Amino acid sequence: MASSLALLFLGLLGSTCALPPPRISFLLNSPERPLVHFSLTDVSNTTTLLLSNDSSTLYVGARNAILLLNVSRSDVISLRSKVTWSPSQTDTRDCVNKGQDPEGDCQNFVHVVQRVNSTHLYVCGSNAYNPQQAFIDMELSVVQQDKARGRCPFSPFERSAAVIIG
Ligand SMILES: *[C@@H]1O[C@H](CO)[C@@H](O)[C@H](O)[C@H]1NC(C)=O
Ligand SMILES: *[C@@H]1O[C@H](CO)[C@@H](O)[C@H](O)[C@H]1NC(C)=O
Repeated sequence: MASSLALLFLGLLGSTCALPPPRISFLLNSPERPLVHFSLTDVSNTTTLLLSNDSSTLYVGARNAILLLNVSRSDVISLRSKVTWSPSQTDTRDCVNKGQDPEGDCQNFVHVVQRVNSTHLYVCGSNAYNPQQAFIDMELSVVQQDKARGRCPFSPFERSAAVIIG
């Protein structure tokens, strides 16, 4: 009895520990599954992504910028809107005075892009080691902006996760 229980237990463990097979796998540049690329020469460090509920729009947090891309078509990605969000001259000067690299650290790396409600997004960026947050509407007009210590990382290289509750 004891040994059959142990076997049953092992069997259950085995099935819950097994990883499901990857849902999609394909070779890069494979003709059966062409990848759509999108880039802008003046936009880099695109590390934060948020897909709209209807999967037609992708919000991208980048270095000194937030992009709104139309991803509703499978064969082309197009830019709908872009907002530049750079540190102020004062923030840049303070950052450089602390010995940070002006082109690297002393820029605004957008770490967080989250939906707040049906009409607004919350964004937070490292802003030259002086984090800033903003509420923006879905078409990227900045509504309100202020300091955000403790809400997203100071350092451009620190990774973070965010969740909005309530
Ligand atoms: C969504 O949140 C923004 C920012 O807090 C606020 O200004 C706006 O009124 C809210 N909209 C709705 C529909 O609740
Ligand atoms: C930003 O991108 C540049 C070029 O790819 C890279 O050298 C740099 O490390 C990136 N910075 C961050 C904070 O990821």
